Amino acid sequence: MENIIKKQLDQELTINHNIEIADGVYEMSLTGDTSLVTAPGQFINIKLPGFYLRRPISICEYDMKDHNGLVIIYKVVGQGTDLMSGMQAGDKLWCLMGLGNGFDVETTGDHVLLVGGGVGTPPMYGLAKELLMKQKKVTVVLGFASKKDAFYIEKFEELGKNMNGSDIEVRVATVDGSLGTKGFVTDCLEGLDTVTDYCACGPIPMLKALYGYYDGKITGQLSFEERMGCGFGACVGCSIATKSGNKKVCKDGPVFLSSDIEM
Ligand code: FES
Repeated sequence: MENIIKKQLDQELTINHNIEIADGVYEMSLTGDTSLVTAPGQFINIKLPGFYLRRPISICEYDMKDHNGLVIIYKVVGQGTDLMSGMQAGDKLWCLMGLGNGFDVETTGDHVLLVGGGVGTPPMYGLAKELLMKQKKVTVVLGFASKKDAFYIEKFEELGKNMNGSDIEVRVATVDGSLGTKGFVTDCLEGLDTVTDYCACGPIPMLKALYGYYDGKITGQLSFEERMGCGFGACVGCSIATKSGNKKVCKDGPVFLSSDIEM
């Protein structure tokens, strides 16, 4: 899959809100010029004040019409995200945009399975919206460790209510069984006989399990975003084996076709 983004933009965005939506997981909405965000599944790199750390964070939702804002969801895992969690409405953030190929909505079939694991869930939201706008049937399967880690389930369900005639089903799995099916996302795939293809983002073991479950019977688009470190080509930690040699997730992905990779 070709990287369709040609330009990058370092842009100052303004925080609208920054709220905790699950245990250590925050939703931040930002306004400003987001015209370089063109596909669900792309990510941004954020330059934090005081220290020049950039972290790739996936975009949950973006203003497709006026290109004037986006929403990110991030988990507090270290110094940088901890600093972000204390930011307030009105604060400014420098964001590098135009990063990543994102999911290709045009090539999806009539009934798309979306699978999000933990903080791999956010890109599935923007993707679900776009697919529903194209009148596709969407089944969303979300996997979390437990109920306290879960987020956005109602938001996905609301998409079905808010978008006229949209067709969305949401299934949830938790490892400890505190919400939905006890187990993993692959335990929630029974009866999905009309699924034409799948899109997924989450931990590598989840992607591997899904890849093995469908075993080439249907095509998948897999986001290896979790594999990224620096997010801009410097750490060489994101390499992935493809049929045309090793590729960097941050430069050539994060989304790869299941038929192009070897897992
Ligand atoms: Fe560092 Fe790709 S994430 S080189």
